[in-house]
Amino acid sequence: MEKNIVVIEGDGIGPEVTRQSVKVLNTIAEQFGHTFHYTYCLMGADAIDKTGNPLPDETIEACLNSDAILFGAIGHPKYDNDPTAKVRPEQGLLKLRKSLQLFANIRPVTTYASLHHLSPLKTKNIEGVDFVIFRELTGGIYFGKKEVNEERTQASDDCVYTREEIERVSHLAFQYAQQRRKKLTLVDKANVLETSRLWRKVVQEIAAQYADVAVDFLFVDNAAMQIILNPKQFDVVLTENMFGDIISDEASVISGSLGLLPSASIGKGAALFEPIHGSYPQAAGKDIANPLGSILSAAMLLDHLGLAKEAALVREAAEWTLSNSFVTKDIDPVNFYFTSTIGELICDYVSNRVPGGIN
Ligand code: IPM
Ligand code: MN
Repeated sequence: MEKNIVVIEGDGIGPEVTRQSVKVLNTIAEQFGHTFHYTYCLMGADAIDKTGNPLPDETIEACLNSDAILFGAIGHPKYDNDPTAKVRPEQGLLKLRKSLQLFANIRPVTTYASLHHLSPLKTKNIEGVDFVIFRELTGGIYFGKKEVNEERTQASDDCVYTREEIERVSHLAFQYAQQRRKKLTLVDKANVLETSRLWRKVVQEIAAQYADVAVDFLFVDNAAMQIILNPKQFDVVLTENMFGDIISDEASVISGSLGLLPSASIGKGAALFEPIHGSYPQAAGKDIANPLGSILSAAMLLDHLGLAKEAALVREAAEWTLSNSFVTKDIDPVNFYFTSTIGELICDYVSNRVPGGIN
């Protein structure tokens, strides 16, 4: 199989974790006889430094012409405490999501037995947790009209949803639930927000087409609590853009390290794959960041290209490192391995099926 992959390393630890994923993809290509062509593009603070623009046109163009996009991380502290900055790294990612119509963001939350002790939650509550957050990604308050008056004494962000925007992501979430444990939970704030009442109505209507999927509804404040109290109850969680942003960070602590979680953003054309962690500037360049969020995102990319066997092997390799204590500093601050070493171990596993050599 021959595929075009755009690689956007981005900011902070983005380059060093993404490089491990590219190594793994190259090993997969070698082992399974595929050819992956990579086009490197700029986005985020890195793109602002080099071009003045957080999302250069060439990046959008290359992404539109690709089969998949592998992305690292975005953000730089110099923008975070400057509320008046006109150009911000995050604008690049938001514009890319919109330009490519990546309306569904899929964030799986799973746990690993060897890491249970790292979770702030009790092992008995997290054993076997396996759910997926479907976050709407191109609508809502993120993309509504934004205003601030001249005196900067008043500001507003509009939250708008159309029926069509809700329908398209909901269908994907229902179809996903059909492939899993057939349960879908809509998270909203329908006791207060008109947009949430529209979500509930549309999801209730769509549910009739998926009679085999059990649907329930939770207000977001209650959902935030349930994710901590009893995360095993969830299968597919469907929600709007901002609620999804917040609860997916919350859910990420269940597994023990934010560094482990991958994500896929899909829509009409090319799809984008990125770890859910941020740019973690304090660790940048130190070779200590956890590359598994990125490598597991590369596994989701392989699945998206229809390469299920290859994806499964990458996941198996990642799990093998975790259960053999080949872990980065976020997981074991004393006996830890470097980012690049974990990448190499995973490549070894992929090329030999047996780490360290061919038997
Ligand atoms: C995420 C991030 C982004 C978001 C930021 C970087 C714009 O937090 O992907 O969850 O809020 O969507
Ligand atoms: Mn986020």
